[in-house]
Amino acid sequence: MITISNLHKSFGAQQVLRGVSLEVAKGETFVILGRSGSGKSVLLKCLVGLLIPEEGSIKIADVEIVGLPHAKLDEIRKRIGYVFQHAALYDSMTVEENLAFHLERHLRLPKDERDRIIREKLSFVGMEAALHKYPAELSGGMQKRVGLARALVLTPDLVLYDEPTTGLDPITTSEIDELITRLKKQTGVTSMSITHDLQSAARTADTIAVLHEGEIVARGAFEQLQSNPHPFVQQYFSSAKVS
Ligand SMILES: Nc1ncnc2c1ncn2[C@@H]1O[C@H](COP(=O)(O)OP(=O)(O)OP(=O)(O)O)[C@@H](O)[C@H]1O
Ligand SMILES: [Mg+2]
Repeated sequence: MITISNLHKSFGAQQVLRGVSLEVAKGETFVILGRSGSGKSVLLKCLVGLLIPEEGSIKIADVEIVGLPHAKLDEIRKRIGYVFQHAALYDSMTVEENLAFHLERHLRLPKDERDRIIREKLSFVGMEAALHKYPAELSGGMQKRVGLARALVLTPDLVLYDEPTTGLDPITTSEIDELITRLKKQTGVTSMSITHDLQSAARTADTIAVLHEGEIVARGAFEQLQSNPHPFVQQYFSSAKVS
C-alpha cells in the first residue's frame, strides 16, 4: 500500500529525514516510533504532499506522490484519512458542520445520504451526541474522536494518524487505541500511525519502525524490537519500563 524509498527532507541546514525507506502492506497497522522532534510529522506530511521532499520516492497504491500535480494529488488524498496531531477542527463550525465540510469538499451527495454518513461515522467513535456541539465544548479526547470520525467520512483505504493519543489520560488512550484496532478489524483499512507512546504502539501495531536521527534504525513486531540490539532502541524501550 505504501512504499517509501530513500526519502530526504531538510529545512535549511537541518536534515530531518535522511534516507527513510519503508513498506506498509495492505491491511497492516504500521506504527512509527520516535522521539519528539525526530521528524515523524514531517514524514506524514510528505505522504500527503503537504511537504515536498528533496529526494526519494513515495508510492501509495503504486502511484508516485512526489512531484504529482495538484489535481492528481487531490484524487489520492480523497482515499486517505488524516488524523491530525491536534484535532484541527474548525472552531466556528459544529461537529456536524466540520464533518460535512470535509465530505462536501470532495463529494456531492443528497442531504439525507450526507447526514447518514455523518451519523454513522460519529456513532463509530461514540460521539453521536456531540452532533450540534462546537469543538470548544468538547474535551481533548472527544475532539480526537471527532477528528477520527472526520477522517473516515470518505471511507478511506488508508488512514494516517499523527499522535492519536498524545496528551490523553491512560483510559482515554486505550479507548482510542481500541477504536484504531476496531476500525482495522471491521474494514481491513491500512493505517500508519506515529507516536512516541510505546504502550499504544504495542496495542495497535502489526509492525513498528523506529525513526532516529532521520533514519529507520529498527523495524519489527513489538516483541522483536524489545530485544533489538540498536542502542537507541534499547534506550527507548528501557526508558519506558515501569519498575
Ligand atoms: N515547516 C517547517 N519548517 C521548518 N522546520 C520544520 C518544519 N516542520 C518541521 N520542522 C522541523 O523538523 C523537525 C521535526 O519536526 P516534526 O514535527 O516532524 O517532529 P515530530 O517527530 O513530529 O515531533 P513531535 O513528537 O514533538 O510531534 C523539528 O526540528 C522541526 O522544527
Ligand atoms: Mg509531530
